[in-house]
Amino acid sequence: MSRINAAITGVHGFIPKDVLTNKDLEAMVDTNDEWIKARTGIEERHILRDPNLATSDMGAAAVEGLLKKKGISALDIDLLICATVTPDYFFPDTGTLICHKVGAKNAFAYDITAACSGLLFALTTGAKMVESGSYKNVIVVGADKMSSITDYTDRATCILFGDAAGAILIQPNDKGNGIIDSWMRVDGVGAEYLHMKGGGSKNPPTHETVDKKMHYLFQDGKPVFKAAVKGMAEAVGEIMKRNNLGPDDIAYVVPHQANLRIIQAVADMLKFPMEKVMVNIQKYGNTTGATIPLCLWEWEDKLKPGDKVILTAFGGGYTWGASLWNWAY
Ligand SMILES: CC(C)(COP(=O)(O)OP(=O)(O)OC[C@H]1O[C@@H](n2cnc3c(N)ncnc32)[C@H](O)[C@@H]1OP(=O)(O)O)[C@@H](O)C(=O)NCCC(=O)NCCS
Repeated sequence: MSRINAAITGVHGFIPKDVLTNKDLEAMVDTNDEWIKARTGIEERHILRDPNLATSDMGAAAVEGLLKKKGISALDIDLLICATVTPDYFFPDTGTLICHKVGAKNAFAYDITAACSGLLFALTTGAKMVESGSYKNVIVVGADKMSSITDYTDRATCILFGDAAGAILIQPNDKGNGIIDSWMRVDGVGAEYLHMKGGGSKNPPTHETVDKKMHYLFQDGKPVFKAAVKGMAEAVGEIMKRNNLGPDDIAYVVPHQANLRIIQAVADMLKFPMEKVMVNIQKYGNTTGATIPLCLWEWEDKLKPGDKVILTAFGGGYTWGASLWNWAY
């Protein structure tokens, strides 16, 4: 039996309408537009303000847009994997809620929690499911309502994050395009520097955990910054080395969008010109699970079949990796 290739065949995004600009943040914490732009590259981010809406609503909107664009019925979805650190609930999983909202009655679903690398890990997993021959229409969603775990009195973190969702369709490809390779790692040493202290089984919610603001994202930015540069450069470097590729062979690198300076440092280390690096952090900030699909969505018209594309991410955990794809459309 010949090998089945698993290709990305469609991408769609959802961005909440409300914008939180650097100027808005100036009125909330001791910061300024110049500092935020110079240190992070971020100019604005979008926030899901309606308190009745959650991560699954953004994920469902992205999936509905994707299905419409591809002319596929929700009933044809076999599997939906949702990457998120801001699930609607601990359980049921957000993927199941998205399936319910879009009417994917023939699918099974689950979530992956690998922080900012969740989407990358979910994509590789989804691709392997298609390569197995058991599933034909797999949707990977990256969705996060980061505003729900952001402390808007902490100037070191509240400037970084935004809300959004993206959905990616993976299907078999008979032209030999699709995923070529992936390289992924985790190291729990990083938990100390980027985590949410409260709400889980280690520190179940109490009045005290709430008073201590333990249900917000905690980050010690400096070590995370250094590890992110090293991790993404390592992952992309490894995948290029073992596939005998140089920067000239790659059409685009699609990095997780956490900080423009991290992205520039990684591109520098790998000798990639910035024209080959997808960057839209200035408009959305760090949307965790959604950053890579939002980039692919925006660059979709510029990509063509056979283009070699490297996706790379780094996140809390630590988690990091890269995957190499032959673009299929
Ligand atoms: C968070 C981050 C932007 C901070 O940038 P930095 O250059 O490391 O800044 P520092 O933390 O060293 O702070 C430098 C100074 O700016 C101040 N500062 C921090 N946030 C500020 C803000 N929003 N506005 C103005 N000043 C600020 C600090 O208090 C510090 O002041 P001090 O020197 O008087 O103590 C950066 O560390 C980062 O991007 N980290 C990684 C983020 C990331 O990738 N997260 C997700 C992983 S997926």
